[in-house]
Amino acid sequence: MSLHTLVSTAFQARFGRPPAYVVRAPGRVNLIGEHTDYNDGIVLPMAIDRAVWIALSPRADRQVRVYSLDLKAEAAFDLDALSRGRPAWIEYLKGVAWALSEAGYPLAGWEGVVAGDVPRGAGLSSSAAIELATARAFQAASGFPWQGKEIALLCQRAENRWVGMNCGIMDQMISAVGRAGHALLIDCRTLETQAVPLPPATAVVVLDTATRRGLVDSAYNERRRQCEAAAAAFGVPALRDVTPERLAAEGHRLDPVTLRRARHVVTENARTLAAVEAMQKGDAVALGRLMDASHASLRYDFEVTNDALNTIVEIARGQPECYGARMTGAGFGGCAVALVRAEGAEAFGGRVAAAYRQATGLEPAVYVCAASDGASVVEGVGSHA
Ligand code: GLA
Repeated sequence: MSLHTLVSTAFQARFGRPPAYVVRAPGRVNLIGEHTDYNDGIVLPMAIDRAVWIALSPRADRQVRVYSLDLKAEAAFDLDALSRGRPAWIEYLKGVAWALSEAGYPLAGWEGVVAGDVPRGAGLSSSAAIELATARAFQAASGFPWQGKEIALLCQRAENRWVGMNCGIMDQMISAVGRAGHALLIDCRTLETQAVPLPPATAVVVLDTATRRGLVDSAYNERRRQCEAAAAAFGVPALRDVTPERLAAEGHRLDPVTLRRARHVVTENARTLAAVEAMQKGDAVALGRLMDASHASLRYDFEVTNDALNTIVEIARGQPECYGARMTGAGFGGCAVALVRAEGAEAFGGRVAAAYRQATGLEPAVYVCAASDGASVVEGVGSHA
């Protein structure tokens, strides 16, 4: 059963009538441009065909009541009395309600059923997906106009200020404005976007190492601080403003760790621009090489990979269908992404899983991903898709 049918049917069973709306928002995988978003840099993610779905109907009062099919639990809050609490999953919805209200959006209450197939905590932006799905639910229930970039910024604000994770803008932007069949070049300073088609006859395969690292947030915040220190040392607002030439000429002024962090960001921005060029030419080989180089930079300069990520990336690269592979997302565990020949994608996934299992004793998950559209209202009275 599709998630669309699943949430609609569950809504009907719970409330005794069909939902007025069904909304969805996707997770994402980043092809290249890692740890660059909070340096005002550029990223190249695509929205994937895994999403959070909500079936809902507006309420006459200011209550939001949601049943999670995945967690088999209900939670509720009052739009006039938003305060932090539990369970943790409802805080994403509350945070979005808080950010939208603060920005002046008139919000109506609603009741709904939520379910998703973005694996949680795997680095595929399950949080951005729930945030953007919530924003779409509020839009459907309340009828305000949808401005993807502004809503993405507000969802980021919810995550930064309500949930307390100091993420950049990439995940919310791609979940908001992704485009089917395309990756999206996002300039994280201007929020300009450009849709870039995947090279012909290629597939994007996500390889979940089944490792998760607990202290991701503190390590992530430490990297942010190191990047800010590097930018300050160069006297610029963000590492985006440092060219590879300037880094080569003046990098010696930084301490060795800060230099490595800065070198990753500066070279990663250059690689991401080169990746767009390669994609525009349909050059899968060149794109794959850039992904390989990105992984090396994240491994040795930014130091955000773990053994599991390095192992699965090496195994992936050893397969004949593979153009290139790298860790994706924040790192420290979670997923890698590989660009492979489309016709061999399933066989590739099977072989990588078997070899990884044998090497580590861990059970990986493999997803051959299609690039999908960003958050949408897919069904509803007067829906605004
Ligand atoms: C996480 C954050 C993003 C981005 C990536 C690293 O996914 O949420 O904002 O910084 O890590 O590229």
